[in-house]
Amino acid sequence: MPPAEGRAPPGNPSAAIRDLLVVAAATGLAFALSSLLELREWLTEVTHPLERYQMDELPLTFAVLALALAWFAWRRWRHAEQELHLRIQAQRELSDALAENRSLSQRYLMLQEEERRNLAREMHDELGQCLNAIKLDAVSMRDMAQGRHPEVETAANSIIDLSGHVYDVVRGIMQRLRPAALDALGLHDAVAHLVGQWRRRHPAVDCRFEAGGDLTELGEVVNITVYRLVQECLTNVGKHARAGAVTVSLQRTSPEEVRISVRDDGRGMALNAKRSGLGLVGLRERVEALDGRLLLRSVPGQGLEVVALLPLSVEEEGPAPAHEPARGADPGQEEAAGSETGGGRVA
Ligand SMILES: Nc1ncnc2c1ncn2[C@@H]1O[C@H](COP(=O)(O)OP(=O)(O)OP(=O)(O)O)[C@@H](O)[C@H]1O
Ligand SMILES: [Mg+2]
Repeated sequence: MPPAEGRAPPGNPSAAIRDLLVVAAATGLAFALSSLLELREWLTEVTHPLERYQMDELPLTFAVLALALAWFAWRRWRHAEQELHLRIQAQRELSDALAENRSLSQRYLMLQEEERRNLAREMHDELGQCLNAIKLDAVSMRDMAQGRHPEVETAANSIIDLSGHVYDVVRGIMQRLRPAALDALGLHDAVAHLVGQWRRRHPAVDCRFEAGGDLTELGEVVNITVYRLVQECLTNVGKHARAGAVTVSLQRTSPEEVRISVRDDGRGMALNAKRSGLGLVGLRERVEALDGRLLLRSVPGQGLEVVALLPLSVEEEGPAPAHEPARGADPGQEEAAGSETGGGRVA
């Protein structure tokens, strides 16, 4: 709590001087009053009849008790100060550990993406070339066997079809490993492409894509995080939501922040229920590694909205200072990492 206006905080040297002045004034006042009222003489007179109970020793005893209490208070104060110091230090270490953790997660995610990219390249260069060679050989076989060996021709045609099919499967895996569209088209068009693909696979769902603000040059890590987030959320809508409509929104809300939201009108989910999947957990890790916030808002039966707020300065500046993680869930309403307040209730 901040000190009251006009009052110096207790650790302030001017406050200590003021307190000393109060002590000096109280002592002077006591001396003046004692002199005026002849207090000691009065005390001696009062305690004299009780001398056999040693009551006349009480004033000195109380004086010693007062000194002892002052010493006791001073010792407790020192002890409290040491405790406070230790706590501050522990808090600082915790903050550092959180910041380091965040930076490690970020590094881990970057390495994971790098590994995926390498794997996709290997698959393209090795598997893709081999499949092409197999297909060309099969085409030669078919041409050689044409009209003379119908069984060989049939087998060759089957190999051609199969190699085409395997290539399509491999291409699909490569796409998931490394969204080539992101490199080729940039974030906005890559997400639009992703939404378009999803729309084709789910023709019954009204799927919209909205974007606003400058979405260029957000940085590699932010781009891949946004892309993976939309990818996972749309996959979830297809798998779990039974939705009639879904809206994907990508907004540059300020020069320092981008807001991603995927909202559906499906069956929603109980946010406090135990979940076994890894998708949402992975998304939270990705978003928090960038010091962003991930919010889930849902009313069972009325759909789910996944919102991510990503700061844009983190990549250049390294790990941002850790903020206190505020976790937990408001059953059935909203679950938050961080402390966003818009819309519904915040956990
Ligand atoms: N759009 C949604 N509508 C309704 N429920 C959802 C939605 N998205 C996620 N869920 C619920 O949240 C759970 C956790 O989702 P999550 O993506 O973490 O795991 P998953 O999709 O089941 O598996 P994984 O993503 O690991 O393949 C899901 O099992 C589902 O019950
Ligand atoms: Mg999932």
